[in-house]
Amino acid sequence: MAEDLYPVPESWAADARVTAEGYATDYARSLDDATRFWLERADSLEWVSKPTVADESSFEEATFGVKWFADGVLNVSANCIDRHLATRRDQIAIIWEPDSPAADPRFITFTELHAEVCRFANVLKAQGVRKDDRVTLYLPMIPEAAFAMLACARIGAVHSIVFGGFSPEALAGRITDCDSRIVVTVDEGRRGGKTVPLKANVDAAAKLVTCLDTVIVVRATGGGVEMQPGRDIWYDEAAASVAAECAPEPMNAEDPLFLLYTSGSTGKPKGVLHTTGGYLLWASYTHACVFDCRDGDTYWCAADVGWVTGHSYIVYGPLANGVTTLMYEGVPNWPSPARMWQVVDRHKVTQLYTAPTALRALMKEGDDFVTGTSRASLRLLGSVGEPINPEAWRWYHDVVGEGRCPIVDTWWQTETGGHMITPLPGATALKPGSAASPFFGVEPLLVDAEGKVLEGATEGNLVIARSWPGQMRTVWGDHERFFQTYFSTYPGFYFTGDGARRDADGYWWITGRVDDVINVSGHRMGTAEVESALVLHRTVAEAAVVGFPHEIKGQGIYAYVTLNAGDPPSDALRKELVTWVRGEIGPIATPDAIQFTPGLPKTRSGKIMRRILRKIAEGDVSSLGDTSTLADPSVVDDLVANRVG
Ligand code: PRX
Repeated sequence: MAEDLYPVPESWAADARVTAEGYATDYARSLDDATRFWLERADSLEWVSKPTVADESSFEEATFGVKWFADGVLNVSANCIDRHLATRRDQIAIIWEPDSPAADPRFITFTELHAEVCRFANVLKAQGVRKDDRVTLYLPMIPEAAFAMLACARIGAVHSIVFGGFSPEALAGRITDCDSRIVVTVDEGRRGGKTVPLKANVDAAAKLVTCLDTVIVVRATGGGVEMQPGRDIWYDEAAASVAAECAPEPMNAEDPLFLLYTSGSTGKPKGVLHTTGGYLLWASYTHACVFDCRDGDTYWCAADVGWVTGHSYIVYGPLANGVTTLMYEGVPNWPSPARMWQVVDRHKVTQLYTAPTALRALMKEGDDFVTGTSRASLRLLGSVGEPINPEAWRWYHDVVGEGRCPIVDTWWQTETGGHMITPLPGATALKPGSAASPFFGVEPLLVDAEGKVLEGATEGNLVIARSWPGQMRTVWGDHERFFQTYFSTYPGFYFTGDGARRDADGYWWITGRVDDVINVSGHRMGTAEVESALVLHRTVAEAAVVGFPHEIKGQGIYAYVTLNAGDPPSDALRKELVTWVRGEIGPIATPDAIQFTPGLPKTRSGKIMRRILRKIAEGDVSSLGDTSTLADPSVVDDLVANRVG
């Protein structure tokens, strides 16, 4: 419908980095003349030795592998810092906005960033960290998180950030999986006026692992923590005796840069591996085209560095582009629902990038918290992490952006390294709720359940037909799992796990996961992980977990639990199980509903029919479909009668 199309604002059409015409020409080139296109784009990075080859990937089983720019040599931290020193020495690289509005922000210039990162790198080296070693970072949103990431990149160590909201158990699993002997953490984190005992969590995790021998503790709150002699060292004490110079290690483009654990439909979280050259080009080039920052801009991505959005769009993308990036320690609604807009005004933010779940939560509080602030500095708004419903989109556009800022609804994944389907502010007329068009070099297709490619305006499973520079390279320690998870379902294609629709104008609409992954507040959670946590409880015989629509979180977690004989259901036990899951995984895995049930709907071969469980959780009990293949169809009546909600 015509009224649903938002044309490119004039202010953007005039001098955007990518115009509508430029997009059409370059998108075609990026597919038809890919090698030349990508070697030209690679020139935007500073190489020790320039690559002469681009894509050498194959999605076919016999020749399988993902490889880009394989003869290039570079260093990511030199690209994010050193090369800017000639022109941007005194420019602010990182603005840090503290949790409490009463505390002082920090402003870190590129010169200071250089010194901080070199010092951090030297501390790591002094602790014996070498190229290819894995370093686990369990840190809150403080500048030291960025320093530590860039320090690892500087010396060729592989960082694995574990989000500060994960429990000691979850942290321990990730430390063990990548055999990391060193963890960097803080005494305590701060969020929404509360402290989070990160060091104490590391101590608890350390009891569950055997590989850990060093814990570096950054002093953040000054809260008292126990230091274990011989294992724990204070960062500030170690940093006092090292030099503020550290030469960047020349890295091959395909050397590992970082690991990031993410949930899938089966098993434990996978260590997604990204490498050096392709990843950095993808993070920086998408950042440049999608946010189109100019000198003097202040760009704010309100994610956490514990997620991929923080990796690519708080740290690597903006810093590689020499852009001032804002890091916010706190949460969107503390001390009041006006906080985000106050931060925008305080630092004159020009581009703001956040998640629909935050917008929905703030929208509910009413417009006054927004309209009481200026927001005059804003030129562009971004959305990420989950489908944005048109109502939230319009509120973001009309109330927050006062109708003048384009919204870039960026679809991508931990696995893709950066944006894949997204509008470009100077090129794309917007439709609320649509991620619009593929980025350069991205070839999305829709396939049906059998893998047949679907043409025209239709809906199906979203696959990508060829590699792109930012694609993940492997699952840490399990290359076979990498192939099986993403390339075996639809041979020859990368399967995203998402469903999508393409409309008559060729616009892409992401409809959400089609596998057993739930998207809770823009964060991925495997149903299998929550089930595993539940069955570890002494009272639980069996559990099945599904997602259901949730007004604020997008999706909530609904758990069906069968108790062991002799353990009666009760509200107290329900509460205990909720606390249990939080302890096993972390608060993001908190079940929203637990339904006790004497049995689960299973086929005669013992397979749980999740389709039925999803329908009941959604409250859609009128169309449960064929239940005649169930071993015991009467189970369904009990499930419907005792639905929670
Ligand atoms: O389902 C899609 C959803 O988030 C998933 C990826 O999650 P994660 O790897 O944690 O990365 C989140 C940050 C990129 C996708 O498979 N998703 C992400 N962005 C969007 C989205 N769904 C709809 N629209 C988006 N813009």
